Amino acid sequence: MERTLIIAKPDAVQRGLVGEIIRRFEARGLRIIGMKFMQVPRELAERHYAVHQGKPFFEPLVKYITSSPVMVMALEGTNAVAAARLTIGATKPNEAAAGTIRGDFALEIGRNLVHGSDSVENGQAEVGLWFAESELVSWPRHNDPWIFEG
Ligand code: RTP
Ligand code: MG
Repeated sequence: MERTLIIAKPDAVQRGLVGEIIRRFEARGLRIIGMKFMQVPRELAERHYAVHQGKPFFEPLVKYITSSPVMVMALEGTNAVAAARLTIGATKPNEAAAGTIRGDFALEIGRNLVHGSDSVENGQAEVGLWFAESELVSWPRHNDPWIFEG
């Protein structure tokens, strides 16, 4: 089953949008397998955003994600990565479609509320980076057959 890492970023927590964000992924049918509320250490932020190291927005990005607590989620489902990215909306909130999280609640790229893994490989890797295996729960959900056909 595909896995994706979702982070409700500091602005989402400060604005009281965590419940709304979780609700949208739950309603989509993604199964929660891990969740934690935490203050992100700088070292973890740097590893998570390593691909952006050296870019002009790297420092503000690390500052943003470590500035205040976040809610981190590991979600599972068929097509979890692509489905979550579509639910989140385009990186630039001014280009995000209405109906997406960013399109409904955000205006600026540096305050875009949510992170979602951008590939199946990164989904696996990021869930491994943010969660110990002991923090992940494998569970059969009673309505799985009504969401997953296989
Ligand atoms: P994320 O990783 O947070 O889910 O966002 P994303 O895939 O949609 O965008 P990505 O290209 O991975 O960029 C990571 C985050 O860096 C900030 N950013 N700022 N000022 C800029 O040009 C710029 N570009 C990216 C955003 O907060 C973006 O979500
Ligand atoms: Mg990204």
